[in-house]
Amino acid sequence: MEKKALLYEGKAKRIYATDDPDLLIAEYKDDATAFNGLKKGVIANKGILNNKISAFFFTLLAQSGVESHFVKLLSDREMLIKRAEIIKVELVVRNIAAGSLAKRLGLEEGWVLPRPVVEFYYKDDALGDPFINEDHIAVLGLATAEQVKFMAAQALMINEILTAHLKTCNVILVDYKLEFGLHHGKVLLADEISPDTCRFWEATTKEKLDKDRFRRDLGGVEAAYQEIYKRLTGGEQ
Ligand code: C5P
Repeated sequence: MEKKALLYEGKAKRIYATDDPDLLIAEYKDDATAFNGLKKGVIANKGILNNKISAFFFTLLAQSGVESHFVKLLSDREMLIKRAEIIKVELVVRNIAAGSLAKRLGLEEGWVLPRPVVEFYYKDDALGDPFINEDHIAVLGLATAEQVKFMAAQALMINEILTAHLKTCNVILVDYKLEFGLHHGKVLLADEISPDTCRFWEATTKEKLDKDRFRRDLGGVEAAYQEIYKRLTGGEQ
């Protein structure tokens, strides 16, 4: 698989063309941003860990019938992915109150929600990814009602699969963000699933094992990402 032109550079990844028009290469960077790019930094080895953690989750989901853009790992920082046009709606699934939900609704961080909640955000950096509902998605033409229904159902199915697996690693899945894309007209799970895009708490100590350590200057950021990788895979390279 030949790596060709750089097509897109985001905050955490670079996307390259390949000699196959249907396939792209995602290269994971160590750059870290938070608060819509206001806070910037580098987390050593983050790109390597997030590439491998995402590959692990995408493989786990595929085994349970959830398709994604992931094809295979190519190197420490690179994965081969299916070309998909990203739908400009980010889905957040929450099991426990934290982050913007706790702030917006005045909830105590750690309150266990009676059932999972699915939220939609408009993927637009200039606007700071604002909170939107299904009516906004329809009037902005971001996705069809059927696509929204499918993405929300997938997001909840993913919640069950990930929550159950992480439980065996003694990790709580607090919340996470998903992105989907259109691949030959079909909605496909895309982007990444990593400590950058999920909140993971150590089940016994409630220690944060995710990007909140960077956001809140808690230290031990790389060690937290390493810990998630180790718990998921037993540390195999
Ligand atoms: O900040 P907030 O509480 O809304 O984040 C909810 C979840 O979505 C967190 O796991 C966070 O890491 C993730 N997220 C993300 N990218 C964003 C916003 C949130 O991965 N742009």
